[in-house]
Amino acid sequence: MPEVQSFAMPMTESADLVVDGGRTTRPGAAHEVTVPGDKSVSHRALLAALLPGAPATLTVRGANRGGAVRALLPAMRALGYGVDTEGDALVVRRPATPRPQPVRPHPDVEDWPRDAPYVQTEGSSAAARLLVGVLAGTGTRAVVDGDEVLRHRPMDWLVDPLAELGADLTYLGEPGRLPVLVSGPVRRPGTVDLRVGSAQARSAVVLAAVAAGLPVTVRHPVRSRDHTERMLAAFGAGLTSAEREVVCAGRGYTVPEVIDVPADPSLAAYPVAAHLLWGDGGVLRVPRVCLNPTRLGFFDVLRAAGAGISYEDRGTTAGGEPVGTVVARGGLAKVTSVRVDSPALLHALIDEVPLLAAVAATLPGDSWIGCAEELRFKETDRLATTARMAESFGATVDVAGDGLTVRGGSALGAGLVPGFEDHRIAMAAATLATGLPGRTTVSGGACHRTSFPDFADVQRAVGARICEDSNR
Ligand code: S3P
Repeated sequence: MPEVQSFAMPMTESADLVVDGGRTTRPGAAHEVTVPGDKSVSHRALLAALLPGAPATLTVRGANRGGAVRALLPAMRALGYGVDTEGDALVVRRPATPRPQPVRPHPDVEDWPRDAPYVQTEGSSAAARLLVGVLAGTGTRAVVDGDEVLRHRPMDWLVDPLAELGADLTYLGEPGRLPVLVSGPVRRPGTVDLRVGSAQARSAVVLAAVAAGLPVTVRHPVRSRDHTERMLAAFGAGLTSAEREVVCAGRGYTVPEVIDVPADPSLAAYPVAAHLLWGDGGVLRVPRVCLNPTRLGFFDVLRAAGAGISYEDRGTTAGGEPVGTVVARGGLAKVTSVRVDSPALLHALIDEVPLLAAVAATLPGDSWIGCAEELRFKETDRLATTARMAESFGATVDVAGDGLTVRGGSALGAGLVPGFEDHRIAMAAATLATGLPGRTTVSGGACHRTSFPDFADVQRAVGARICEDSNR
């Protein structure tokens, strides 16, 4: 694990979110809300269009339309692909002869090669890391870059194993960070060991191996979200996954013409949490949610602690993802504290740590969220920003190197809370505020658009009093 870098903390650019506590809807009523498509599955489905042998036109239905997924669209266009919105679908068209856009100089990158397209992925680590993997698999020459925040996040997690497999990758700025020039493909079969549990790092290597048709075994320290493996296995790519390794057989596969994206469990967590925090006995249903077990940690932890959460109407998508309805009944009366103390469980709720900490702050007992070192390398140092967000409500949080203790029984109150321009922090804060009397302002809270553009609409549909205040 590299040392924690000081993060470039962006100035607050987004509008604030203003939340008045309490619920507008009838207590005890039954509600159903839908949430947008899964961000991780959307990234993978779109990138499938870049795999050798992909159909000339790939339609991704139900894709997430947040900033993190939209960052991939101009990036794909810079590689010569056409990407259009058609109804609820994103349609990717391969040019007859793949031809990158004309190259334009970039003022920030000194040694920027003039013969490689410049692919900007903004703040989306999934777009950048998975794209580097696919480009290293196809041997497509390109410079992949990100915004100031993403340029501080680790890329060596995937660049090192890709280089071990023979890929030609060069850091054009700071070592281990973006921008990265991809100039030659993975070409040596073998076994690589990943240092971290990051699903993005593992996915980059697996995508490279499959794109190159190279037999590769990827060993990893923990089972984290496995959407890449499920998707590629559904394509027939000959992938076998065990607890600590993925074996890519290096054989052919077929990318279908249409991929359906299930709803995002990480986004379903916000209306479910609001419902549980009100605790007035009603039922909330969120249908067609991806029920991949590597994503259900937030619900599973609360369920194990006594919350009335269940999964119903189960099925499976053609892409191999389990789906169903998340049902929340009642509140948190039986829950005294929560505990996360295994790496696999942490990874199954890695994006929900701020929300779980916010919920934990309302419980009577002390909660522990551990095995969370990788949280320091997110859009912000999320152990620090989660603690500061919860403390702004009056919670007591002890930050350790690898996790958070959220002390129970603190008197919480509404007020002015920082969102740190980090969508998960802002949405966790706005959700906790729905359960507290008084008005909370989450500064820069509209950054929820990164993953959940209609966050406020969905929370309002379950009864929250929340709006955007752009008159700062
Ligand atoms: C993601 C993996 C996780 C998660 C991120 C999306 C993915 O990141 O936090 O929101 O799509 O694979 P890491 O792989 O860095 O843990």
